[in-house]
Amino acid sequence: LAAQLSPKKLVGHHVLVTAGPTFEAIDPVRGITNLSSGKMGFAIARAARDAGARVTLIAGPVHLQTPRGVQRVDVQSAQQMFDVATALVTEASIFIATAAVADWRPAQASEQKIKKDGSGEVPALTFVENPDILASIAHSRAAESGALFCVGFAAESENLLAHASAKRKRKGVPLLVGNIGPATFGQDDNALVLIDAEGHREMARASKQVLADELIADIARRVPVKG
Ligand code: CTP
Ligand code: CA
Repeated sequence: LAAQLSPKKLVGHHVLVTAGPTFEAIDPVRGITNLSSGKMGFAIARAARDAGARVTLIAGPVHLQTPRGVQRVDVQSAQQMFDVATALVTEASIFIATAAVADWRPAQASEQKIKKDGSGEVPALTFVENPDILASIAHSRAAESGALFCVGFAAESENLLAHASAKRKRKGVPLLVGNIGPATFGQDDNALVLIDAEGHREMARASKQVLADELIADIARRVPVKG
């Protein structure tokens, strides 16, 4: 009966989650980052664990406790997140990209702290694009053969549905989850819209943990049963 009330829908699955922001160094004391608390990604890791999956969480710099039973790897930069995700995804059957990855990094991080020289001149920063972790993994052989199910997230500041639908196709993922604004950074609740090839459906405002549980239940219906 307990199993029917709370079925372990993801037994036999290995879920890999990216969470939090990335940090891109400018010099040893400063850098650029994105707004993200990591709460949604950590809630998803917890939900996947509760559904019986083995869970690995790749976290950028966040101030959150590791959910019990979840394997956590900490990273700083987008390149590090890309390297770790690419290595670990080979063992995964589900990849969920919740991280707010910096799109660009300074072309060259200075080895020494950049000093004011007293002239009032400001340093010129040039940027290079970071690798797209989700797009790269979603276009891998495992994902394209159906062995790996990929889920993306999108936070948009306008035209959520249009931008997110276009993003789903561009990234090559079967499911993209939009954060329904306004900015939910650091908040304990959120509202989501799930977008797939068929259309979209909203998940009404609730705590990030309730939404994560619902999202994991939805994903479980889209992947093969392994348990
Ligand atoms: N993502 C990623 N690697 C990147 C950029 C984004 O894995 N270098 C993932 C995010 O974790 C998220 C999804 O891609 O799941 C969408 O991220 P978003 O920033 O909304 O999309 P972008 O393609 O970067 O487009 P833009 O920021 O210009 O809207
Ligand atoms: Ca981006």
